Amino acid sequence: MASKTSPLIQFIGVLCLYFTSVTRQTNKNDGKMIRFWHLLGLILILNIPPIENVDRNNFKTCDQSAFCRRQRKYKPETSPYEVDLSSMETLANGHLQFTLLNTLKTHVKFQLDLYTLEQNSLRVKINEINPIRKRYEVQSVLVGEPKLVKVNITKSDGNQIEGRFDKSARFLLNAKPFRLDLFTNDIFVMSVNSKNMFNFEHYRKKPGSDGTPAEDNKEDNEDGMWEETFKTHHDSKPYGPSSIGVDVNFLNFENVYGIPEHADAFALRSTHETDPYRLFNLDIFEYDINNPMALYGSIPYMLAHNEHATVGFFWLNAAEGWIDVQNDKLNTKNLFSTITSFFGSKSNNENNEVPEVSTHWMFESGIFDGFFFLGPTPNDVFKQYTTLTGTVPTPPLWAIAYHQCRWNYNDEDDVRGVNNGFEQHQIPLDVIWLDIEHTNGKRYFTWDTSKFPNPEKLQDDMAIYGRKMVTISDPHIKKDDGYQLYAEAKSLGYFVKSKDGSDFEGWCWPGSSMWLDYFNPEIYKWYSQRYSYNNYKGSTSNLFIWNDMNEPSVFNGPEVTFPKDLVHFGGWENRDVHNLYGMLQHMATFDGLLERSNGNIRPFILTRSFFAGTQRTSAVWTGDNAAHWSHLKMAVPMLLSLSVTGIGFIGADVGGFFFNPDAKLLVRWYQAAAFQPFYREHAHIDTARREPWLFGDDNTRLIRQAIEQRYTYLPFWYTLFRKQEKDGVPPMLPLWANFPSDTNTFKTEDSFMVGNGLLVYPVTDADVNQVTVYFPGKNSVWYDIRTFVQHNGSETALINVDMESIPVYQRGGSIIPQRLRKRRASMLAIHDPITLVVALDRNNEAEGEFYLDDGQTYNYRHKHEFIHRRFTFKNNELKSTSVDNSARFETDAWIERIVILGYPKNPARVTINSGDKQAIPLHSYQETSQILVIRRPGPSVTADWTLILS
Ligand code: NOJ
Repeated sequence: MASKTSPLIQFIGVLCLYFTSVTRQTNKNDGKMIRFWHLLGLILILNIPPIENVDRNNFKTCDQSAFCRRQRKYKPETSPYEVDLSSMETLANGHLQFTLLNTLKTHVKFQLDLYTLEQNSLRVKINEINPIRKRYEVQSVLVGEPKLVKVNITKSDGNQIEGRFDKSARFLLNAKPFRLDLFTNDIFVMSVNSKNMFNFEHYRKKPGSDGTPAEDNKEDNEDGMWEETFKTHHDSKPYGPSSIGVDVNFLNFENVYGIPEHADAFALRSTHETDPYRLFNLDIFEYDINNPMALYGSIPYMLAHNEHATVGFFWLNAAEGWIDVQNDKLNTKNLFSTITSFFGSKSNNENNEVPEVSTHWMFESGIFDGFFFLGPTPNDVFKQYTTLTGTVPTPPLWAIAYHQCRWNYNDEDDVRGVNNGFEQHQIPLDVIWLDIEHTNGKRYFTWDTSKFPNPEKLQDDMAIYGRKMVTISDPHIKKDDGYQLYAEAKSLGYFVKSKDGSDFEGWCWPGSSMWLDYFNPEIYKWYSQRYSYNNYKGSTSNLFIWNDMNEPSVFNGPEVTFPKDLVHFGGWENRDVHNLYGMLQHMATFDGLLERSNGNIRPFILTRSFFAGTQRTSAVWTGDNAAHWSHLKMAVPMLLSLSVTGIGFIGADVGGFFFNPDAKLLVRWYQAAAFQPFYREHAHIDTARREPWLFGDDNTRLIRQAIEQRYTYLPFWYTLFRKQEKDGVPPMLPLWANFPSDTNTFKTEDSFMVGNGLLVYPVTDADVNQVTVYFPGKNSVWYDIRTFVQHNGSETALINVDMESIPVYQRGGSIIPQRLRKRRASMLAIHDPITLVVALDRNNEAEGEFYLDDGQTYNYRHKHEFIHRRFTFKNNELKSTSVDNSARFETDAWIERIVILGYPKNPARVTINSGDKQAIPLHSYQETSQILVIRRPGPSVTADWTLILS
């Protein structure tokens, strides 16, 4: 896209950028000046206005997006859509098919497919029958064909069909008008088109294109249907309108969650007076918080939760989407008789009103492909969604430890210096990252050899400390015939095409660039092969990958991305597939890393852009946040929204990417993120250096403490990640996931849980000496992990905090494995002994698990090489049993300490039986704090044993 700037101005712009890059390399100038010249250069070249904070004018509002405008105002009194029940066909057990008609446009017919799926899930597809252009159906997201289960048609009359399926699911399909109601355990939970907003814009001929005068076809010729301009960008819309809108309503619910990515509340807000939440993968410079603007990734999946049920709705669609959310009251008097009778018995509300969250979903193209998850528990819904889209595979152990990043570590000496800094200050570290400046002029898969003359040696040297490295690899390919990767891709015709068929060209970090078309399986494969050791010179088995800017970010494109009318493989417009692009890049990267180790070593990839399914191959971070307290606070709701929608390996840049955090903010960020799944410090190139030891001894100590604490809990984290792979339950959870009936938790976003064991309340305000913590769960008890002070569930407590404090509490009833010995890197600690912290509940019981494997290969899958133990404490006995007896893993790790919290008395005798051996370990008891410590009980972590307190 050419800007309108004159060549002379552009030339001055280039000089500015050149000056910036030279000063960065010499690293002599201060950040502010570099930032100034950099911005000036971009402004002159790209003709973009100077911006300090996000310039909202660069991004569309719903009103500036023609399809959103049309769909948002569509509110007919009654729906013109009707199901022809006489057309019903049973294509398989669990698959029913109907014809759906728009009674106002009877020449257009739709097919409605209804699939009853295993695990209380229902799929509904609606597509045009014989459209004049095929509509895009999303690929690469589902892990396989969803499994059907038998449906029992329990009622069928002229206007309704009722079906029951799986454990407790029921649907009621109303024909005239089209409407679908869903029940779980006979509780009415979701309803589709009950607000009449289903509106499917069929493909049509352009008025006038076949000689028909345009006036005869007025409603086919609304503003924005056939072309649209935003700022200087023209969208040619060769196929005309194709959007779909539908209302999905959650009955008896007051809170809905999910649909990331937005820098906004976890319990989604009503969009009554704002724009709808937008789903369109975009690179938003210095994003603002507390608004529904789109960000880097999109998951069109929403959950609703109340004290009786958790349910979900996922619309598999990769086009641009907008979602309105509204909190309503539903008058049950107006419902169909079958449903009224349900409420008649349940609602004692005089007005017959129940709460309802109504949501209105609008996508620009594609088909309606909706999945309804009927729970009814939070864990059921996590399982139902991830059965379809996949779970997060257990990451390598080092990937869940601490990462040190910056844009940029300048050269090999700098990297070694940072490594030495961690050594000197005895701070654990697992990974050092290299951002774009490590390459030869932003040509990915290359090295700037003046700064990194011997990258293999560098990686080998880091490996001596047990450390890995990560390099960045963005999707824009510098347009330069001398760059082999570009030249080859160009000659093979591998770049995405503009609407006129030429290779699309845009601007990104390297200047003029092109983008690979991963939608073509051949190109996808070719790209993945770039990661082989042969092709990626200077890479070793200790190097892993960061895919950034993959929305994709195109500095001079409309809304800083691809034009909608750009064409991908198969002739699909970017309009149809936009939100998938980033995911295809990181999936291909994953395949490449897997391939380079012949399928043996687990890859690690961090991606900025994502879609449903990303969790199978990549970790995700929340992009370019800022060093503000408000951004530290916002990390929790942002991460929770990702977590509940399947993306469980997640983090936010520690310290804030833009600007300089003061020492307090930095320390607090380290403390908060120590309990979030992905733990990485990262900073913008123009910020001051901020390695942990640069803020004075006291702060260095506090940061060290936070990181060390992360390392002590790694056995617990690792066990939770394994659980995520098996059951789809993410390690970072909203409180309601563990306390589903505690209504006080439904809007909580200042605290969260790690598994079902730790409650974390990060301090996210400057200069506070008290925080207010709500402890969830009736009759539950919580133990401060530092002081072991007990707190009662269902109570709110004022907790005193100083800079040392990270308010974290272990749930009574949980057993958490820890490694307390200090090590410089996680992989060196795999066989270290384990401490078990047994936190007793009100019945003096507790349980927990411990999972261990080699931390990096797939032997746990292929060879069953792991240990998975279950610990239970009951009737004064703590038992260790195996969860999987067929598994084996060689380790000399042993249990070196057992700490029992809340134990009522000093036992007269402690014995431990393992096989035919019996031992009497030493113990000590603190009466006031009710802590019993058993030292060196000694059994191997692989053994069955029983500890008896008498
Ligand atoms: C944008 C990313 O969000 C940021 O983390 C990175 O440092 C820069 N690109 C430069 O690569």
